[in-house]
Amino acid sequence: MNKSQNTPGGANKGSFIVFEGIDGSGKSTQIRLLHEHMKENGVSCYVTMEPTDSPIGSLIHQIMTGHVKTDNKVIAALFVADRLDHLLNDVNGIVNKISEGTTVLMDRYYFSSYAYQSVDMSLDWVIQANEPSSSILRPTVNVFIDVDPDVALERIAKNRFQRELFEEKSRLIKVREKYLEAFDRLKDVENIVVVDGNRDEREIAREIRERVGAFAR
Ligand code: ADP
Ligand code: TYD
Repeated sequence: MNKSQNTPGGANKGSFIVFEGIDGSGKSTQIRLLHEHMKENGVSCYVTMEPTDSPIGSLIHQIMTGHVKTDNKVIAALFVADRLDHLLNDVNGIVNKISEGTTVLMDRYYFSSYAYQSVDMSLDWVIQANEPSSSILRPTVNVFIDVDPDVALERIAKNRFQRELFEEKSRLIKVREKYLEAFDRLKDVENIVVVDGNRDEREIAREIRERVGAFAR
């Protein structure tokens, strides 16, 4: 059963499909493949991601790259602010897009905050802080691409230079555990699809198409 009851708009609203996973799990690859499939089927789609490229998102990027230092609670609050702006801003806010019938494919939403920020603070605090977003717009479905942290790191290492692999691995293990904890906590109110992301990308894409189709129009 579809548990999303606070999506805006009427009968012609678009679906809101969110991709979650640890870094390097293959979210952008799968979003690209699902987008291609939807275009072939004439579905009007908008692809977007968090953190965004808004002024708030740019500040987050500066913090993540070590150019600006602040407290973990401030970072969590900036993700909350970036998310609300992403939902509500007049120019390209996704609440309006969905109301107008566009399907939104999004790379990360509040479950990313639940997983990443709760490594350093309480999950309850993070869930509560994101209540303004969850009360405005719950995903039609959250697709979690579940990848072994070793596999994700191998994929990342192919693309990027000089990673602190050991530190990265322990962090990714914790983030994956936090995702699973948050999904378990919210399983009664969220639609969650977990796919094994350790496989060939075409095989994963096929499973996502089939399972998302059960929720999305
Ligand atoms: P994310 O957006 O979650 O960080 P990406 O889609 O950018 O992940 O994938 C990270 C890297 O792994 C990219 O180089 C991508 O081509 C590669 N990749 C993605 N999915 C797979 C897969 N199923 N098998 C092997 N490599 C993959
Ligand atoms: P992103 O650019 O999507 O990284 P990737 O392509 O590797 O998945 O996200 C940047 C980082 O921001 C990523 O490590 C996860 C983190 N993040 C949070 O910590 N909290 C959040 O709420 C979001 C949306 C992202």
